[in-house]
Amino acid sequence: MVSNLEGPPLIEILNPAEIARARETGALVAGILQAMKGRATVGTNLLDINRWTGEMIIAAGASSCYIDYEPSFGRGPFGHYICTAVNDAVLHGKPSDYALADGDLLTLDLAVAKGGVAADSAISFVVGDSRPLESLTMINATERALQAGIAAAGPGARIGDISHAIGSVLSEAGYPINTQFGGHGIGSTMHQDPHVPNTGRPGRGYTLRPGLLLALEPWVMADTAELVTDPDGWTLRSATGCRTAHSEHTIAITEDGAEILTLPTQQ
Ligand code: MF3
Ligand code: CO
Repeated sequence: MVSNLEGPPLIEILNPAEIARARETGALVAGILQAMKGRATVGTNLLDINRWTGEMIIAAGASSCYIDYEPSFGRGPFGHYICTAVNDAVLHGKPSDYALADGDLLTLDLAVAKGGVAADSAISFVVGDSRPLESLTMINATERALQAGIAAAGPGARIGDISHAIGSVLSEAGYPINTQFGGHGIGSTMHQDPHVPNTGRPGRGYTLRPGLLLALEPWVMADTAELVTDPDGWTLRSATGCRTAHSEHTIAITEDGAEILTLPTQQ
């Protein structure tokens, strides 16, 4: 996600054949994320999750949107296949040599391209058997905000309608909202216009139309809206060290609503 795009604004509207390919890419992203969730047990190293993800992307004949990605908000190419963010890390988590512990809150964020179309999705969950209430409540809030954003999307709706729906759920759950990073248009590349802030005013912004793909991605930090960047130049953490959560789907605007392209077939 990115709030200041470099270069001219780019919004793509996909034709039905391209939407069909977007469904395939979306299913691939969802499948890899669920496979990695299954493997993210106590003791699993984040570098192994990265390697397994790369193997699955290559086996599927897809390409990584991350490995060579070099945006203004990171330092140099990302160089990895998946974002892994643990506990106070929330966005752009660069996989490191870390073994997961019971109760860790892990966010996996993955974007790949196949058949000329990209899809992007993120999930947060707790590793192991413990059930830390604060973490589960926060994850649930981002999932509910994502569903509210999707419900607000459809032909004729405006970006502000989605932003307002997402922001209302997050605010009512008691979380401060950061507007530096949010959702985004997606298509032949991962990050496109329009930007989709996680709070906003209904009735404002770009009007959605069939064929537009959007990645919606509510994320929160328990007690702050301020981010700090790791020495790795990529990983963004809560300034207070509090826990964080992030949920993301890629959706397609259809004639009569919105279709989620990155739904897992089993959970
Ligand atoms: N997929 C992320 C997003 O939700 C962006 C990750 S950028 C990376 O928009 F370079 F860190 F991979
Ligand atoms: Co995204």
